[in-house]
Amino acid sequence: MKDWPYPLWIAHRGAGKLAPENTLAAFRLGASHGYRAFECDVKLSADGVPFLLHDAELERTSSGAGAASKLSWSELSRLDAGGWHGRGFAGEPLPSLEGIAAYCIRNGFALNIEIKPAPGDEVQTGRAVAAEALRLWADEPVQPLLSSFQPEALKAARDAAPSLPRALLIDTLRDGWFDEAQMLGCVAVVTNFRIMDASVIAKLHAATMRAVVYTVNDAIEARRLVALGIDGIITDAVDRFSPTASGVCA
Ligand code: G3P
Ligand code: MG
Repeated sequence: MKDWPYPLWIAHRGAGKLAPENTLAAFRLGASHGYRAFECDVKLSADGVPFLLHDAELERTSSGAGAASKLSWSELSRLDAGGWHGRGFAGEPLPSLEGIAAYCIRNGFALNIEIKPAPGDEVQTGRAVAAEALRLWADEPVQPLLSSFQPEALKAARDAAPSLPRALLIDTLRDGWFDEAQMLGCVAVVTNFRIMDASVIAKLHAATMRAVVYTVNDAIEARRLVALGIDGIITDAVDRFSPTASGVCA
């Protein structure tokens, strides 16, 4: 099996249900529940700065409007990415990947960077995010895991930073998913938990790849997957699943 330095439990969008997703406040909240690994979504500003945001548009999770990729980092960094969630988070900024890297490295936390390009920006985003991650984690023993639903983005990431570990994200067992993951040199495949079963795990493990799932918030599902030998579980339920307990506590 390829080297796998990541904890089993990974907080989704930096624990982004109990705090505003993809903000430092969410990471801090996950950390307060004992989480030591985080997933976040990263895309590019108009001037090429990698930053955290899930949607292509700004409305749902910030005080901004329209396509995030049209604004410069200077404009994006002035938005409120916390007030939509609750008054206690008002003024929380959109983080840059650089800011989140500093937080994770300082605390010894692992990061799964989901490359989430604006439509049409797949190659540019994969390349820029990988190059930035390579720079930010240059001297670190545990490198961030780069994942994406977009094979083109992963290919660009591989070309820009071949040494960084990659994972293909899939929502369905579509034709060609396994060959694609192998061709991209992936160390893992991250699937919707509903399509992960013993045969998928066996296929991945036989090819020395790891099996990871998103987004598991149900204890019965978590127990099923742990019993099957899953390697990573991305969850929102950081207050219910204890990453330090050996079993699934919920
Ligand atoms: O990286 C796994 C998961 O985050 C993928 O779905 O939509 O929450 O980014 P989404
Ligand atoms: Mg994601």
